[in-house]
Amino acid sequence: MNYLGFPILVCAYLTSVSTHEVDTYDFLMPNVWPHRDELYLCSPIRISPRNNYYIVGFQPNATMHTAHHMLLYGCSEPGTDDPVWSCGEMQSNEVDDQYNTASPCREGSQIVYAWARDAPSLELPKDVGFLIGKDSSIKYLVLQIHYMHKFPENKRDNSGVFIKYTKEPMRRQAGVILLGTGGAIPPNKVEHMETACTMREDKVIHPFAFRTHTHALGTAVSGYAVRQEPSGDVWQLIGKKNPQLPQMFYPVADTTPVRQGDVLAARCTMNNTNSFTVKIGATNKDEMCNFYLMYWVENSSPLDQKYCFSAGPPYYYWSRAPQNFNRIPDLEASTL
Ligand SMILES: *[C@@H]1O[C@H](CO)[C@@H](O)[C@H](O)[C@H]1NC(C)=O
Ligand SMILES: *[C@@H]1O[C@H](CO)[C@@H](O)[C@H](O)[C@H]1NC(C)=O
Repeated sequence: MNYLGFPILVCAYLTSVSTHEVDTYDFLMPNVWPHRDELYLCSPIRISPRNNYYIVGFQPNATMHTAHHMLLYGCSEPGTDDPVWSCGEMQSNEVDDQYNTASPCREGSQIVYAWARDAPSLELPKDVGFLIGKDSSIKYLVLQIHYMHKFPENKRDNSGVFIKYTKEPMRRQAGVILLGTGGAIPPNKVEHMETACTMREDKVIHPFAFRTHTHALGTAVSGYAVRQEPSGDVWQLIGKKNPQLPQMFYPVADTTPVRQGDVLAARCTMNNTNSFTVKIGATNKDEMCNFYLMYWVENSSPLDQKYCFSAGPPYYYWSRAPQNFNRIPDLEASTL
């Protein structure tokens, strides 16, 4: 395990700098060699468990020609103890002789930052920070980079992210909830993969960014906050995107807070032009349906609930959900 990280930096600063200062940590790949095309590499840092830190900004430091996308995961346990490993979401069965293969996190995975080629990066709103370290389930940060092309023998890469952080407690903590589905898409069919969860926790969340993720079949992904009023359901669009565009965090369409009793819902519209069924899964022949919602909470901690998954088609649709939805925006949810 690479022990470079917050502990060392912070020890160095404790004597000389007030804790109100925002500091920068250069989280860069340690001279990696992308030795084949379509490679995902991961590298971890351990956060000092003795202190709380708040991430308040990200600055990408990547070359468009080499990095296709970068994701920053918060984990309670990293995928391996190696300084670098191969961490493709789309696992190929080929044995990798250069790096071990594992997922980015072994436990407690959440995405805190995403950068994609040709897209500007999103800043966290004022007074908002991601709590990591002592009082957070985020004990490690793992940087994942998708390299499209094999590097020449003598070339190495240090793409990464400059992380801006502070020890000063932030009034507003950022959190992420991931909505997604299982299920399958029949051949030659446009299918809706849907999920919905009622917010049970006594908290008020303020949506500010969202990210969509599918593989090749996704044509539209939308997320809603649903208020179930006596006069009928009010479907408030949080965000909608073509998942074939760069898959980064985009600002939400509506920042209206979401409260206990409201429902979070997402739909992926998938167009399967193949003559065979495509199911949700981990290989590049499979699909995914994900909607990430990034929010902040005031003077509170983020939701305990980090996921909202359904079984997907043919088992689950909004129209059969226990919430007994009405006024489902069927057309709007699938058209961009
Ligand atoms: C990334 O940061 C390092 C160190 O600050 C710098 O030398 C390098 O040029 C940067 N790379 C890119 C692609 O910006
Ligand atoms: C599905 O894809 C086919 C082939 O690209 C296209 O002709 C059709 O219009 C698409 N349908 C929808 C609903 O996107």
